[in-house]
Amino acid sequence: MTVTYQDKTFLPYLSAEQIALRVRELAATINNDYAGKRPCFLILLNGAFVFAADLLRQISIDCEIHFLKFKSYSGTSSSGTINSLLPFPENLKGKDVIIVEDIIDTGRTVHYLCEQLQQESLNTLRIASLLIKPEAHERPIHTDYYGFSIPNDFVIGYGMDIDGWGRNLPDIYRLK
Ligand code: IMP
Ligand code: MG
Repeated sequence: MTVTYQDKTFLPYLSAEQIALRVRELAATINNDYAGKRPCFLILLNGAFVFAADLLRQISIDCEIHFLKFKSYSGTSSSGTINSLLPFPENLKGKDVIIVEDIIDTGRTVHYLCEQLQQESLNTLRIASLLIKPEAHERPIHTDYYGFSIPNDFVIGYGMDIDGWGRNLPDIYRLK
């Protein structure tokens, strides 16, 4: 079933079942990689809220969770500017930080965040993102844990939106 928003049609792309399977695999990998550690997850709002909720309820090791919010999108293309809307977490020194994103598109957001974190004397820094769009990356970005690598299509659902619409859809759809 397609969904429409204003004049745009979106086609089914990744089902809730496919996503759930992949998220379970990612959580198992992270549980294994961080066994004996206490990772600190930095969740990028708003888009990552659904992915983070599903992923983190399957993280069985001790962990910390913080939320960050950078706004850089309006409509279907990046506006290029990044504003921080939540205070930065304190005391990240020596921690094993994992950034949690919904999708890495141009890569500006995670690049900016990684730069900010460089001054924090972390022990380790890794990135987890449900989706990556390598063709849209403006610079090489290594995403340690990703669910699906997708073409340069605009997608909605499972936390991702178009102008605030579509975040609640359980499946992921791509713009026709
Ligand atoms: P960036 O271009 O990698 O900085 O992406 C920043 C943010 O834009 C992502 O975290 C998403 O929230 C949002 N975004 C990027 N691509 C899409 C998309 O296809 N659909 C919905 N949101 C997107
Ligand atoms: Mg996001």
